[in-house]
Amino acid sequence: TDRYAVFGNPIGHSKSPFIHRLFARNTAQALTYEAILAPVDGFAPALQRFFAEGGKGANVTVPFKEQAFALCDSMSEEARLAGAVNTLIRQADGSIRGENTDGLGLVADLEANLGSLTGKTVLLLGAGGAARGCILPLLNAGIGELCITNRTQSKADMLAGQFAGHGKVTAIAMPELNLAYDIIINSTSASLSNELPPVPARVVGSHSVCYDMMYGKETTAFNLWAKAQGAAQVMDGLGMLVGQAAKSFALWRGIEPETATVQQALRASLA
Ligand code: ATR
Repeated sequence: TDRYAVFGNPIGHSKSPFIHRLFARNTAQALTYEAILAPVDGFAPALQRFFAEGGKGANVTVPFKEQAFALCDSMSEEARLAGAVNTLIRQADGSIRGENTDGLGLVADLEANLGSLTGKTVLLLGAGGAARGCILPLLNAGIGELCITNRTQSKADMLAGQFAGHGKVTAIAMPELNLAYDIIINSTSASLSNELPPVPARVVGSHSVCYDMMYGKETTAFNLWAKAQGAAQVMDGLGMLVGQAAKSFALWRGIEPETATVQQALRASLA
């Protein structure tokens, strides 16, 4: 039976085993998927052991995505530009290929709910690792324009500069944002502490779809705020989580699992 795992620290609350085991059942794939707690200073040896013991592929989560990026033999363009890897694939020749499916999962979730993203204006809140990982997939999905804004604006400027060659990407300081956007994505970790990024309410129009990469049993602080500003629709990051897992599963198994029922099952399991 082919063996897969997710590596992280902490890892106890990872939803990945739940998601991938459901995918495996639904697609009749014989595989095991476990959660592995790697020591903070011992990711590479833990991973090497896993592959030496026959592991076929792995997911990588906090805080190891940058280390995973560094130890791949080859990688996708998404991973290269994200500077981080969440999916590892052991290839036939024994080499390790890295992919980053986080942004692809976000785009898949947006498209499943909204249809084509062609021409949409997108405002991205935040300029950390989560923001970086979704920029190329959003541009490749055909969005019309991406604007990045961040509490520390210099980081948004830098990110916009790095992706300028890949599409229409700008950076605007939060107080200077004047337009409403079709899609507003909160990639900041503000929701973790129940805070809001200090973005002006005028970015939310009655047609806006607001997306918080965070999720929980209760509506996130950002999505509560977005609703109060009159957003047309709010979505949370549970769909992105299942979406990125589906992309990883497809890379490993060559079969794209259905995500809607898995999302429902995961939502129902939230404590
Ligand atoms: P991640 O990998 O999750 O993106 P990160 O790289 O540490 O984590 O980035 C966190 C992002 O959330 C940053 O854009 C950060 O803004 P700063 O660059 O100004 O630090 C943003 N962030 C975190 N807490 C925030 C808060 N309370 N309000 C606004 N932005 C916040």
